[in-house]
Amino acid sequence: MKPRLAPTLASLILAGLTATGPVLADDALWRDCRTCHAVVAPDGSVLARGGSSAPNLYGIADRPLASDSGFRFYSDDLRAAAATGARWSAANFRAYLTNPDQFLRDLTGNPQAESGMHVELRRGADEVFEFLRGLSQ
Ligand code: HEC
Repeated sequence: MKPRLAPTLASLILAGLTATGPVLADDALWRDCRTCHAVVAPDGSVLARGGSSAPNLYGIADRPLASDSGFRFYSDDLRAAAATGARWSAANFRAYLTNPDQFLRDLTGNPQAESGMHVELRRGADEVFEFLRGLSQ
């Protein structure tokens, strides 16, 4: 079964807004991603702590797909999508987070394409994208 993140994320965002400000809100946004992802700058400083079983999301805004050179386990289908030259625009990021398999199918034209990421966000993708863009500046 795929994890259902939407209700948690929505309530965490609300909690962040009514609490002490942007730090808490950002931390709440990151909670659903950090099991697998971290944000680590090129100089090695950790901007958002997290796991190492998924690509580093440093500079993800406008980064080409599948371009973390330190991550060796990209799926063939994400690599195939990357071969189209696509980048992580806000729209691509939102589409991917909403339905990773469908995003790859639309981009590659392969109806069998499957993402190596089994996470679907029903809302909040734009906020996560802006959070990550802000961290990487
Ligand atoms: C259970 C682990 C897991 C969680 C939780 C997770 N991801 Fe991922 N993510 C992955 C894996 C694995 C990949 C590589 C997928 C592939 O190769 O097809 C990935 C890939 C990505 C990519 C593409 C990276 C690139 O270099 O092209 C983005 C963007 C992304 N995830 C964003 C997120 C965000 C934002 C969240 C939180 C809402 C999140 N992920 C939660 C495991 C996870």
